[in-house]
Amino acid sequence: MQPIADLDVLQPVSSAPDVAADGLDAPQTLAATADAPNGRRVFIETYGCQMNVADSELVASILGQEGYGLAASEDDADVVLINTCAIREKAEDRVRGRLAKFRAKKVKERPDLQIGVLGCMAERLRTKLLEQEKLVDVVVGPDAYRDLPRLLAEADETGQAAVNVHLSREETYADLAPVRYDTNGVSAFVSIMRGCDNMCAFCVVPFTRGRERSRPVTSILSEVGQLVDAGYKEVTVLGQNVNSYRVEQDGTAVSFAELLYRISLLSPELRIRYSTSHPKDCSDELLHVHRERPTVCDFIHLPVQHGNTDVLRRMRRTYTREQYLDLIDRARSIVPDLSLSTDIIAGFCGETDAEHADTLSLMEAVGYDHAFMFAYSERPHTFAARKFEDDVPEAVKKQRLSEIIALQNATSKARHEARIGRREVVLVEGPSKRSDAQLAGRTDANHMVVFDRPEGVGKGDYVAVEIIGCTSATLFGDFLGRTTLAEASALVA
Ligand code: 5AD
Ligand code: SF4
Repeated sequence: MQPIADLDVLQPVSSAPDVAADGLDAPQTLAATADAPNGRRVFIETYGCQMNVADSELVASILGQEGYGLAASEDDADVVLINTCAIREKAEDRVRGRLAKFRAKKVKERPDLQIGVLGCMAERLRTKLLEQEKLVDVVVGPDAYRDLPRLLAEADETGQAAVNVHLSREETYADLAPVRYDTNGVSAFVSIMRGCDNMCAFCVVPFTRGRERSRPVTSILSEVGQLVDAGYKEVTVLGQNVNSYRVEQDGTAVSFAELLYRISLLSPELRIRYSTSHPKDCSDELLHVHRERPTVCDFIHLPVQHGNTDVLRRMRRTYTREQYLDLIDRARSIVPDLSLSTDIIAGFCGETDAEHADTLSLMEAVGYDHAFMFAYSERPHTFAARKFEDDVPEAVKKQRLSEIIALQNATSKARHEARIGRREVVLVEGPSKRSDAQLAGRTDANHMVVFDRPEGVGKGDYVAVEIIGCTSATLFGDFLGRTTLAEASALVA
């Protein structure tokens, strides 16, 4: 799953910058609520992937049902919760720094402040955070959020830390309506499954988020239906590996492709994206849904991780370089205008110069629109930590990563330049970062477009623009007219 990039937004959903995020993007926070019926306000700071953003929305909903309000900042909070990421060491170090800061505040100024760790680090570090570091009052794993109100009350009453890091085989939080992060009411995340059974050699996620389980179809369709009724124009369907979504409904198996198809029937004006897909189970059935359903964006985040078959085998990715490249060819033959993004790891155990060169050549062969690029960081308990030596020197990892980033920046720029002169449909998200006189939004291929604000156009509108310029991160457009998704194919033809 992609890291939170810049909710310009989150990863992995994202208008992620084409650089190594390394888990160090700005944390996400929820908008404050007007009141707090039980007199207590909570501030939730979220690190990591889009799944964590979706989880923080669930946590806000669970606490809201118990009368908690949301605080505008840590300064007006009675409870501070950090939803954490354990995927790379740097991400964990940063959370530790934040916890130490909150702890100092509690000791010096606010003895009643409750501090909690949620999510992947909670699962991984449980007792260490409590016993050795004594930083926190509650520790809650990703499957135990329903227990959070009880744990906060228990910690308050006993003065002792309260913990629940039980991983479930069933919990999907299917019945809960999340409090939406995105206050602009245009795009939302919808979680469809939890956990991961893939056990890639480098990845801690199967240990922190537990076994794979899929949420029932009816609860997903009902949540998306409510978003449509509330005026949302885009959903990003989330899971660690959405392609392995599978449930039984009325005696028939429902695949991810079928689920996506059913979601696309809910509204002709709702754009649909998803993340993350494992290449091993990206099916032709799914590619045909992209081709046949105009609201399913022609954009796939399809992490390759590496360009060399031996490294892919050591990573336990279960496909070869050739199989991945065949998949890309097949995908582009079924969905001709397909845009792709990827995740890439530099400096995995035993990586040679020649193997690294294979990553660069694969990137050139595919021509990704975006990439999330990372230096390998050994994680405890993973297959790689147990079986291989983390033997690529840090300086070499950095050098290889910088070559990967430079190549991706050049490719992103070229992919953008190829769009100049084309007409694109943009879903307006709001004013551009630089100026209120300009609007910004995304194309179907997830490219950010900035254009001068026309009278009467605003967030949530679909507009047609002609692309007139670009950088490696942004396209610039000339406004042509307002449109709808249904009309758009005619307008941009
Ligand atoms: N070191 C570096 N990058 C990692 N990722 C996962 N585990 C590690 C690790 N130990 C990257 C992968 C994954 C993305 C979310 O994070 O590229 O797809
Ligand atoms: Fe980690 Fe691999 Fe699962 Fe993705 S598919 S969450 S990289 S184990």
